[in-house]
Amino acid sequence: MFAKFKRLCESRLLSLLGYAMASFIPAVRRLEKYRNILIAAYCVNRGMIWARNNPIRVRLAPIATCNFRCLFCEIHRDNLLFPDRKPNAVTMKTIDNYATFLASAYTLSFFGGTAEPLLSRQFGAIVERLKSRYGIRMSVNTNASPLTPALSDILVNHGFDSMLISYHAGTLEGYRTLMTGKLEAVNRNISYLTQKKMEMGTAKPELVFNYAPQKRNADEYKAIFDNAKGLGVDRVFVSRYHGGRNALQDEDVDFEDDPEAGNAFLERAYAYAEEIGLPLTPVEPRYFKETSEVAWDAEDYDRSIKCYQPWTDLYLEPVLNAENSHYVRVCNRTTLFQMDFEKLDLSTQAGFDRVWNHPMMQYLRETVNSDAINPLCKYCKNPARREVRNRDHASYAILRDDVMAAFVEEFRAACPDFAEVDGLIVLDGHPYDEREYLRRTSGEAAPTPKPEAIKATS
Ligand SMILES: C[S@@+](CC[C@H](N)C(=O)[O-])C[C@H]1O[C@@H](n2cnc3c(N)ncnc32)[C@H](O)[C@@H]1O
Ligand code: SF4
Repeated sequence: MFAKFKRLCESRLLSLLGYAMASFIPAVRRLEKYRNILIAAYCVNRGMIWARNNPIRVRLAPIATCNFRCLFCEIHRDNLLFPDRKPNAVTMKTIDNYATFLASAYTLSFFGGTAEPLLSRQFGAIVERLKSRYGIRMSVNTNASPLTPALSDILVNHGFDSMLISYHAGTLEGYRTLMTGKLEAVNRNISYLTQKKMEMGTAKPELVFNYAPQKRNADEYKAIFDNAKGLGVDRVFVSRYHGGRNALQDEDVDFEDDPEAGNAFLERAYAYAEEIGLPLTPVEPRYFKETSEVAWDAEDYDRSIKCYQPWTDLYLEPVLNAENSHYVRVCNRTTLFQMDFEKLDLSTQAGFDRVWNHPMMQYLRETVNSDAINPLCKYCKNPARREVRNRDHASYAILRDDVMAAFVEEFRAACPDFAEVDGLIVLDGHPYDEREYLRRTSGEAAPTPKPEAIKATS
């Protein structure tokens, strides 16, 4: 769907025709998302800074806490920075407040931050409401430990679309150590769900295990694959481990630093999956590459990348130190606002436009693909960014914090008189500040690597 949407966005004529067609789509709740897509393609093509469309892809964190402490997860950094985490559970009232844009979204992912979405007591009720009213496509990232039979029944009966289940170990001991939970209980939950699917003769929800191999869980692959097969899981996603601020940060676990061992592992794992007839994604192994050193050049960016996310995406992610709040983002780089969803009335289009078409959102749309590109998007499109992230987390995070601050400064200079909205805080910096993290972990002032001194490999 997104490839077709991109083609529509790139054609002046097709996007105009689509825009004209949008007005013939009857005003029926379940068709609203198609009208929205056509209007979005037109707004993207014309580079409209006031979006007449609403977001197409929404991410929503229904709660901000987690019951696990996986060693590889940045929950360790978050808990250090925000020891008094607020649950920020979304209620039906919040869903009603968000109805303006949920009604026209094509997809909704329950995802965001270091939290476990299924801990939300309202999760089943929210799914029932949104599926029956809008037929929105839904997915969730979960550790599956809070997946009760009652919730599974709701997910199957309402055709919930897909679940990405964190499953980074497959032995009882490996799971207990790495993911800090009980594998038997998780397997029981998954088994109930797959049996329910069979009973109902349905393929939904699609069940995918997420396995990010690194040296601490490389030996787990056979157990993970056997369990996937035995439990009737559709496939295993062999993802990439991201080093970061976690409980493994001081160990040498990342295959990125040892491509030969990583590639030998991938060969073994893919051969075993083929032997037992288990589908993996990607279908072919994504091999680790030998790297050579490059210097970070802050001015370098790929001008051919056209980014549409300020028109298409809205992420509402957990705020850990304030009640009833979500961070507002349009991608993984931008954290623009802290929004109080109790205070701010978003239930009308005019109310939602105070966020969606806030001057800062307009500034982002104006500059994301322009020659006068803003610092945040320039950093995002820098060809060395991923390599810096993989190689040198502290430098990466400090760069990220600095470009975020530079973006806000630039916006404030360009738009000094923008009106404050009660309940919507324009952030001045990244919430997970790396210097603060370093200060707390070292107990002293953090060293500040200079961007030009950062070495990455490509
Ligand atoms: C932070 S979790 C939150 C959702 C839920 N609690 C879960 O575990 O699925 C989001 C996703 O990131 C993955 N993840 C966490 N740490 C990771 C890391 N260091 N490298 C790669 N993936 C990671 C998890 O497996 C999960 O699929
Ligand atoms: S990966 Fe998911 S389950 Fe594990 S600690 Fe992080 S948020 Fe919790």
